[in-house]
Amino acid sequence: MKRVKLYDKEFTISIRHDQIQTAIGTVAQQIREDMKEENIPVFLSVLNGAFMFTSDLLKQMDFNCEVSFVKLSSYSGTSSTGNVKELLGLNTDIGGRTVIIVEDIVDTGHTLVELFKILQQYNPKQIKVATFLLKPDAYDKDIPIDYVGLRIPNDFIVGYGLDYNEIGRNLRNIYKICPPEK
Ligand code: IMP
Ligand code: MG
Repeated sequence: MKRVKLYDKEFTISIRHDQIQTAIGTVAQQIREDMKEENIPVFLSVLNGAFMFTSDLLKQMDFNCEVSFVKLSSYSGTSSTGNVKELLGLNTDIGGRTVIIVEDIVDTGHTLVELFKILQQYNPKQIKVATFLLKPDAYDKDIPIDYVGLRIPNDFIVGYGLDYNEIGRNLRNIYKICPPEK
């Protein structure tokens, strides 16, 4: 499919499935190289968006590792803590261990900063970050992004796990939004 329509928006193909797989192959090789001496690292896949990337990436890991699926939700506490995030689904002990965050996309990096802060409280040995996509023109945080599949411009995209109002995650290619017709 060259174009898709999701609700009111039109999208056009941007990154094909085979290009996605090639990029993942490169990232997977870097991670295998870096992790071969590590004792059972744990991949923390950030739902919902990272599910496809996690699946394809993990199939290429050839060492013993764990995977855990986590979700960041806005903490439903008092209104004064409106921006505080809560981490759901962390069901493994990461103390003293190597953690690899697996993200679909890092845009401003706000989500990553929140996640990092929470994970550091568990005293892991180290936290690495693997993101399939990075928008370098939007990312303005200090956390190093260790593994990047592809760097993309600031366009809004969908597919391969990424959504527009929760639809489009199932698409095997990545599509970018078309400018509205004048
Ligand atoms: P952040 O700005 O790095 O915190 O990114 C927040 C979240 O916004 C990401 O985890 C994605 O779920 C979502 N996001 C950012 N850019 C896009 C996009 O182009 N398409 C779909 N979702 C996006
Ligand atoms: Mg995400």
